[in-house]
Amino acid sequence: MRLVLVGPPGAGKGTQAQFIAEHLSVPKISTGDIFRANVSQGTPLGLQAKAYMDRGDLVPDDVTIDMVRNRLAEDDARRGFLLDGFPRTVPQAEVLDDMLAALGVKLDVVLELVVEDDEVIRRLSGRRTCRTCNHIWHVDFDPPAVEGVCDLDRGELYQRDDDKPETIANRLKVYAEATSPLVNYYSGRGLLIGIDATGPVDDVTVRAIDALRPLQHGE
Ligand code: AP5
Repeated sequence: MRLVLVGPPGAGKGTQAQFIAEHLSVPKISTGDIFRANVSQGTPLGLQAKAYMDRGDLVPDDVTIDMVRNRLAEDDARRGFLLDGFPRTVPQAEVLDDMLAALGVKLDVVLELVVEDDEVIRRLSGRRTCRTCNHIWHVDFDPPAVEGVCDLDRGELYQRDDDKPETIANRLKVYAEATSPLVNYYSGRGLLIGIDATGPVDDVTVRAIDALRPLQHGE
């Protein structure tokens, strides 16, 4: 299956992407994770992306699109993928259509995680991420057993630089202006399925998997 996840910052895309990609046995391709890995390794790509990310702005399309094109060309993406964080603008969506057409494949579905702004602000301000395995935790909604330590691999948990209140406000504005038009773009193509992404993480996963089941079975 070839799937895109959309939704505002903090909707739970990264959290659900881990479970859905595992369920579908496809690689999870997160542009945010790829940028953050490059920032922490100090690569030229990371240096280019960092200033935009720290402000909560989008990294320019030329940088982002080349990065995704290279990732989609890797062997493990041949049989399907889950894209988290790309596309994020209508021009990126149009380029994705062209990239997939060149590979002779199409998107199967775009899953929209629907959450109100006040809830995403609560989620982002308490988010903690594992430095080694990237697992996502929340200090109140999904806390690790020991504060600051990942349950899965004992890695150190950190707070993302772009989870400061002023940056969160800009990310929500950028989402409303640049990314939310994707909802119409994909619903007009009959690809969009929206699910309620509020409530416990496991409930949202069940809703997502239920929504995808008819596509998995070709109904
Ligand atoms: P990116 O990493 O993609 O950030 P984002 O879209 O803002 O999304 P987040 O990762 O903040 O949130 P999420 O929806 O994944 O939520 P999560 O699961 O973590 O991008 C970062 C930056 O990179 C961008 O600002 C931009 O600069 C750049 N970039 C990336 N892609 C780009 C592109 N295509 N073009 C240009 N620039 C690009 O959950 C959040 C918290 O909530 C967690 O603590 C989690 O534990 C908790 N939580 C999750 N689900 C629930 C639930 N059901 N109940 C309670 N808590 C929950």
